[in-house]
Amino acid sequence: MTIDSADLASVLAGWKGRGTVIRHDEPTDTWIFVALHDDTLGPPTGGTRMKTYASLGAALRDAQRLAAGMTAKWAAIDLPFGGGKAVLAIPHPLTGEERRGLLLRYGRLVRALGGGFNTGPDLGTSAADMKVIAEEAGPAVRGIDPRTGELTNPGPYTAKGVFAAIRAAAAQAFGSPELAGRSVLVEGVGAVGEPLAAHLVAAGVRLLLADLDSAAAHRLADSLGGEVVPTEEVGKTRCDVYAPCAVGATLHDGSIEKLACRIVAGSANNQLGEPADAERLHRRGILYAPDFVANAGGALGFALLGEGAEPETIDARLAGLESTLREIFEEAAERDESPLAAANRRVERVLARGSR
Ligand code: PHE
Repeated sequence: MTIDSADLASVLAGWKGRGTVIRHDEPTDTWIFVALHDDTLGPPTGGTRMKTYASLGAALRDAQRLAAGMTAKWAAIDLPFGGGKAVLAIPHPLTGEERRGLLLRYGRLVRALGGGFNTGPDLGTSAADMKVIAEEAGPAVRGIDPRTGELTNPGPYTAKGVFAAIRAAAAQAFGSPELAGRSVLVEGVGAVGEPLAAHLVAAGVRLLLADLDSAAAHRLADSLGGEVVPTEEVGKTRCDVYAPCAVGATLHDGSIEKLACRIVAGSANNQLGEPADAERLHRRGILYAPDFVANAGGALGFALLGEGAEPETIDARLAGLESTLREIFEEAAERDESPLAAANRRVERVLARGSR
């Protein structure tokens, strides 16, 4: 990983968040960033991502952008948490005692923040990892089911939320939320893509799947009944809905013009290269479900679980994301603007009301 101090300094200097906590973990040569973006609605709360980055600046930028995304997410679903995110920038994949050591030391850092940051799983971390972090950080690790004491994987909640988002988008674009006979391309068959694919098939969707791990895509396609699309063709495959459920930033200046879908609605965080890409999608007549609303199901499920909500209550709230998105799409259509603009106004309204 390149360490470019000038780049790092400029990323730190340009940020509008509350602050970033930085630690280097010597035994594993991991850089830890805890980005605290906003605490207007409550304590900064967001997942812990574990990933290898090209440069230190890229890791910091990811943490800060993801933290800002969490602020928007909590505000969009109107829950009393703030925006924060942690990145563990590992030099290479970590397993066994090495991984456990890092997680415990990271847990101690989270404990030292004294409730100023709450966390849960994200890309590259599992519920099992959260259990290790919780040995040190205790209640700062969220998503423990009070009934079983077990840590929950938020993937299935996120998937239900994305399914609701796709229904809302179909209602707006095609006049009906019913998905039977529609084609949906799910990019990424991980913690969210897999349960999402199952919901889609149950709704009668023609399923297309893509994953860098093509064996995993084929396994899921065989078990659910679907077709595999090579990853390099994802961006130009004709389909009704493109659901990015892997890495972010797949929608940018160069990729948007090639898209052959009517709707983009998926779970990846930070799907747009830059905010202007929402306008680009709008001008191309592609309906974009803002990522921080479409993928809010994981956060929503997590928060409700922590309050001891019943599974039926959680399901009802997840399905409610459909009406949240319909409101956003309708407001955007009335003003002939991208749904991101309408979603951002909603976030601003909630933050303005909730400021303390
Ligand atoms: N990492 C998921 C997200 O970005 C789920 C999550 C939300 C985890 C909130 C912890 C806290 O939404």
